[in-house]
Amino acid sequence: MTESKPAVDPADLAFIRERRVGHLATADEDGAPSVVPVCYALIEDVGGATIVTPLDAKPKTVDWRSLRRVRNIAARPKVSFVVDDYVEDWSRLAWVLVRGRARLVEPATPPHADAVAALRAKYPQYRAMPLDDLPVIAIEPRAIRSWRFGGAAGASARPGGPELAALVRGRRSVRAFRADPVPRPIVERAIEAAGWAPSPHGRQPWRFAVVEAPERRAALAGAMAATWREQLNLDGQDAAIVQHRLNQSRERLHTAPVLIVPCLYLSDLDRYPDAGRQAAEEIMAIQSLGAAVQNLLLSLYAGGVDGGWMCAPLFCPEVVRDALGLAPELIPHALIAVGYAARDPVRRPRLPLEQLIVSWE
Ligand SMILES: Cc1cc2nc3c(=O)[nH]c(=O)nc-3n(C[C@H](O)[C@H](O)[C@H](O)COP(=O)(O)O)c2cc1C
Repeated sequence: MTESKPAVDPADLAFIRERRVGHLATADEDGAPSVVPVCYALIEDVGGATIVTPLDAKPKTVDWRSLRRVRNIAARPKVSFVVDDYVEDWSRLAWVLVRGRARLVEPATPPHADAVAALRAKYPQYRAMPLDDLPVIAIEPRAIRSWRFGGAAGASARPGGPELAALVRGRRSVRAFRADPVPRPIVERAIEAAGWAPSPHGRQPWRFAVVEAPERRAALAGAMAATWREQLNLDGQDAAIVQHRLNQSRERLHTAPVLIVPCLYLSDLDRYPDAGRQAAEEIMAIQSLGAAVQNLLLSLYAGGVDGGWMCAPLFCPEVVRDALGLAPELIPHALIAVGYAARDPVRRPRLPLEQLIVSWE
């Protein structure tokens, strides 16, 4: 007997599709429940939707066959799966609950290949993991219920606040990197995110040079080091300190697998006859470059990758431009070292909220 799939509200499906973490509840033969947070993707076809979650290569304390969820599904295929939004603005609280039947899908068995493709499209981290050789869990929905605060349709169309808060607080400046390469899609997604920053007149007055080739990186590091040495010597710095700082900077430029040089690009901005307004226009562009870099850093961090903002190019823009062979209208403003942190950096504490808000008392 074939069971027909339930009619699914497209809004509920969209809600499930857009979230990044679900909670999968299973029960063992005695009915003892177990809930785990999981990464998942939706496979949608004319027959309906299937939720797939991998037995992936993230570190586990036990072999996948011994995972409680795997043993539970073998004993009782009935599962619940919930995705939710918690936001401090409670008018946007929402969840979608799927009740269904789960099964293990072995490699080379449909829809295993579709599941792996969907998971990799959703989570770039999976592109570097050997998902092809491990089974996935497929959940066929039998009933879908959803709840939105006050029943407001589409009230939680915006992505969840807790995720943003975690990204904003979690991002950190990393200055020592492992040699592991960074997947190009993560870098491209980050530059795409930078493109969504606010900018004066929406003109996006910035471009990003991605430096990966060893010879280009060496040319950049060499040229900047020579200029920096001159500048530090000019400041009368102790020779040993100059050498130490240069070594540190050189090491970062050589070990970070990717360097991104955000450049100001003023050609599309308005021109003013007076210096005051012209300067304001350029300051707006620089402010916007900062916003774009923050988007870039948050996107990298969301992709599991860290960045370290270095101001050095600001002090020698022509040197950087020449070393990289950049077009004359590009003004290098920073250098973002991109890679996987060699260790967790020490975080600088932040000012308390009361100090950030200007008060009139
Ligand atoms: C415009 C700008 C320039 C920066 N330049 C450097 C730099 O040259 N070297 C460095 O180690 N960190 C640099 N930083 C990173 C800051 O030191 C860092 O953001 C700050 O200490 C807070 O730490 P966190 O980013 O881990 O929260 C820069 C940050 C900004 C916004």
